[in-house]
Amino acid sequence: MTKGKVDALLGIVFGDEGKGKVVDFFTPRYDVVARFAGGPNAGHTIIFDGKKFVLRSIPSGIFDEGKTNIIGNGCVIAPDLFMAEARELEAAGYDIAPRLHISRRAHLILPTHRVLDRAYEAAKGKNKVGTTGKGIGPAYSDKAARVGLRVGDIEENFEEKYRALKERHEQILRDLHYTDYDIAEEEKLWMEGVEYMRRFKLSNTEAEINRALTEGKSVLAEGAQGSLLDIDHGTYPFVSSSSTTAGGVCTGLGVAPNTIDRVFGIFKAYSTRVGSGPFPVELFDETGETLRRIGHEYGAVTGRNRRCGWIDLVALKYAIMINGVTDLVMMKGDVLDEFETIKVCTAYKKGDEVVTEMPYDTEGYEAVYEELPGWQTPLTEIREEKDFPPAFSAYIAYLEKQLAVRISIVSVGPDREATIIR
Ligand code: GDP
Ligand code: IMO
Ligand code: MG
Repeated sequence: MTKGKVDALLGIVFGDEGKGKVVDFFTPRYDVVARFAGGPNAGHTIIFDGKKFVLRSIPSGIFDEGKTNIIGNGCVIAPDLFMAEARELEAAGYDIAPRLHISRRAHLILPTHRVLDRAYEAAKGKNKVGTTGKGIGPAYSDKAARVGLRVGDIEENFEEKYRALKERHEQILRDLHYTDYDIAEEEKLWMEGVEYMRRFKLSNTEAEINRALTEGKSVLAEGAQGSLLDIDHGTYPFVSSSSTTAGGVCTGLGVAPNTIDRVFGIFKAYSTRVGSGPFPVELFDETGETLRRIGHEYGAVTGRNRRCGWIDLVALKYAIMINGVTDLVMMKGDVLDEFETIKVCTAYKKGDEVVTEMPYDTEGYEAVYEELPGWQTPLTEIREEKDFPPAFSAYIAYLEKQLAVRISIVSVGPDREATIIR
């Protein structure tokens, strides 16, 4: 990767594409790994040497001792969950404090943000977003409303600032008649988390990253969620509350657009979505169930069933456009091993209307498919492209032609080793 540049690895669909695995795999090539958006709504799975970790707020470059990992200003952080996550890594023998820096400009998720998350969802009736319940929306709302608390706030008069924001939340909850909650225990742990955070370098990470770039160092920006969950470009209002797309790399880390070099867009060989919202490729039949079973499509954060379907080229083309994707990374090809035929959604239709460009609202659209032959050969043990079954190579070639971007990495299993560079 170019020295002195930022590369980004972005989920370009509805999240859970395998970002954790690929960031961990890429880390040896970079000096700094930085998260720029989201918080503990993320669940990034990393598997190596028979060990499995699911990271939420901590960047997936953390296992490489020599690298600096940064939680950027665009992130939101829950001190109690962060403490639990960090302690798990420490218990596994990783001394993470010296290599993890947190932006003082990142916003804090308070226990009452999580109560508000539940209260807002409850008030939405049947139009629930299906959030992860981690207080993400309320925390980013307070950021935009200019009343939020930031990591830097813990350095001075914190109790007072905390109490003021908590009282504001309690008032909103009373107005919503949502008063049956008890955060006493949670709050104690949360305050303990605040104290725990002080052992990490709480810094102006924006300056730190730019200094690293000036010194010719390379940065990998690790996306969270996916492009279709982006607050601006996703399937609003069924989205998360941060900028998960390429623009979010600049605002969420404080790096200029001209520092960005490659944009890796990661997707699965099929589609999934957790939570509510339109999903034209969703399968309610046995095929959907088979994809879920073979792909283990159950949420890493909430354990919810992920909704499953065939790959969606309408969505992928849109995300490639929004992000300026230079390289594609295709995950979980092995999940399709057993299928005799594989479908690809090439357009959406509603009545007589057929569209290939992402509509304003995808609600009510159905998928239009093309069919390709399956490979019916196990892929997981394959380590070189020359050993791919021809039908799998044909699937890759078909997608590259349709998407007009090269698929430069192919993953055929959850382990770090099952990754093929083309
Ligand atoms: P992330 O949020 O984008 O980091 O993805 P998740 O960790 O939420 O979900 C991806 C899941 O797929 C995890 O359970 C990974 O261990 C698993 N996984 C990643 N790559 C592959 C692959 O190529 N094949 C299979 N079968 N599983 C994979
Ligand atoms: P990673 O980084 C998949 C979804 C939730 C819900 C919507 C809003 O692991 O890919 P929120 O709690 O953010 O307000 O929920 O966004 N969602 C994710 N889905 N992967 C994620 O993260 C997600 N983070 C949020 O299910 O539909
Ligand atoms: Mg995930």
